[in-house]
Amino acid sequence: MPPPPLLLLLLLGPLGPLPHGAVAGPAQAEDAVELHFSTERPRQLVSPAFLSFTIDANLATEPRFLTFLGSPKLRTLARGLSPAYLRFGGTKTDFLIFDPHKEPTFEERSYWQSQVNQDTCKSGPIPSDVEKRLQMEWPFQEQLLLREQYQREFKNSTYSKSSVDMLHAFANCSGLHLIFGLNALLRTADLQWNSSNARLLLDYCSSKSYNISWELGNEPNSFWKKAGIFIDGLQLGKDFIELRKLLEKFTSSSAKLYGPDVGQPRGKTVKMLSSFLKAGGAVIDSVTWHHYYVNGRIATKEDFLNPDVLDTFIVSVQKVLQDYWLSLLFKKLVGTTVLMASVKGPERGKLRVYLHCTNINHPRYKEGDLTLYALNLHNVTKRLLLPSHLFNKQVDKYLLKPLGPDGLLSKSVQLNGQTLRMVDDQTLPVLTEKPLRPGSSLGLPPFSYGFFVIRNAKVAACI
Ligand SMILES: *[C@@H]1O[C@H](CO)[C@@H](O)[C@H](O)[C@H]1NC(C)=O
Ligand SMILES: *[C@@H]1O[C@H](CO)[C@@H](O)[C@H](O)[C@H]1NC(C)=O
Ligand SMILES: *[C@@H]1O[C@H](CO)[C@@H](O)[C@H](O)[C@H]1NC(C)=O
Ligand SMILES: *[C@@H]1O[C@H](CO)[C@@H](O)[C@H](O)[C@H]1NC(C)=O
Ligand SMILES: *[C@@H]1O[C@H](CO)[C@@H](O)[C@H](O)[C@H]1NC(C)=O
Repeated sequence: MPPPPLLLLLLLGPLGPLPHGAVAGPAQAEDAVELHFSTERPRQLVSPAFLSFTIDANLATEPRFLTFLGSPKLRTLARGLSPAYLRFGGTKTDFLIFDPHKEPTFEERSYWQSQVNQDTCKSGPIPSDVEKRLQMEWPFQEQLLLREQYQREFKNSTYSKSSVDMLHAFANCSGLHLIFGLNALLRTADLQWNSSNARLLLDYCSSKSYNISWELGNEPNSFWKKAGIFIDGLQLGKDFIELRKLLEKFTSSSAKLYGPDVGQPRGKTVKMLSSFLKAGGAVIDSVTWHHYYVNGRIATKEDFLNPDVLDTFIVSVQKVLQDYWLSLLFKKLVGTTVLMASVKGPERGKLRVYLHCTNINHPRYKEGDLTLYALNLHNVTKRLLLPSHLFNKQVDKYLLKPLGPDGLLSKSVQLNGQTLRMVDDQTLPVLTEKPLRPGSSLGLPPFSYGFFVIRNAKVAACI
């Protein structure tokens, strides 16, 4: 069988979060760095939906919080990243049980009542008293969820039809394609997947003609730690075959199936992945695994037991919001054709450069233009020098920097010196370029991200 295509579910955007505590200070020295481009032919094509995101399945634990998905502001932010996949998943995936008889909560009912003429995409704002109360209650809910996570004791929760409707409406109205993770820990006595709950959900979704893609289980390599159940790759492969049969029955086989959503592929997880692929590789549309950036790799058990964990969670949420702007720029400026850029010399490791054709949906740019994006992890400004044949081209700079003395921990981000914030709940700010003088080097301050659009580059691979 041909190997299925790869789909890497990025959890935090293409560049990931920066290390904690790094503060952008004044430049100590300014180093010039030569770039080398190889643009003869595309190296790779990525999907226009590249750079997608997840809503943690935790959110369904207390369905009243799903009401947030009706927020016009959140939908505007999400729409800015369309086209993309919206994955509903995470550890809680394997502790959620669909209950078709469960009644919607009071908050969910007020969400549905706020819709204009039954149009799911024209929901008015949720009543402000409901929203205020939910916002007040959320920190307590968050504490509960964090405790569950750090103690590794997960409770089952049920979710209703209304919860499914809300998720689907959020995705559909924001131009996102929903990927829903099914519970893989529902098992029979002989450890086969018990599909009866999935059948109920698939039946409901097909009655509503929802177009959803599916996963089964989250990080099955750590089922033992999370639930004291060991499932090997072979069994998981068989379970996916069972799920594929169900999808054929309920969705006339058009639905996509992704898996096995293993954690960082190393050690035993690699073995699990390969035996899974042998058994079930033929029934999945893409292989998925989870990649964690700096945070996951440096996090130790002590970090998890640290009482400051709530504070750091808030910090990471703020960082994700910064990342939001980064992701938005990425979507607007970066096209699907990947080319190659590299840095010569010892600067390489801490100076990451990437080169794509420009996204020509952007009204300012045209076929043949190039987008270079770069991350400077050095603590000094670096000056990138374009290859000589592009040296005199017009370049638009889009430089992202944190605002204020908190450096990377700042709540706000500036684009070319302008603080980015939504104009109102329905309007994203204009992302304004700063044209550089032809022949200038591309300055990249310490710990910053920059996008540089090289105009009229006339690169054949981009035409
Ligand atoms: C969750 O429910 C399933 C099915 O009833 C059961 O097998 C499993 O033990 C439950 N898990 C927990 C943590 O209660
Ligand atoms: C949203 O739903 C409508 C109607 O079913 C469909 O035509 C459209 O393609 C959906 N959009 C997305 C992004 O799934
Ligand atoms: C599968 O789960 C359902 C619902 O909990 C239960 O009624 C049924 O007996 C289970 N089937 C097997 C074979 O364990
Ligand atoms: C379902 O959504 C996928 C992804 O957006 C799309 O490619 C596919 O055509 C849709 N299928 C149907 C039947 O609308
Ligand atoms: C910058 O980083 C270098 C090592 O890469 C280190 O030796 C130096 O002390 C750092 N300077 C500042 C101001 O942090």
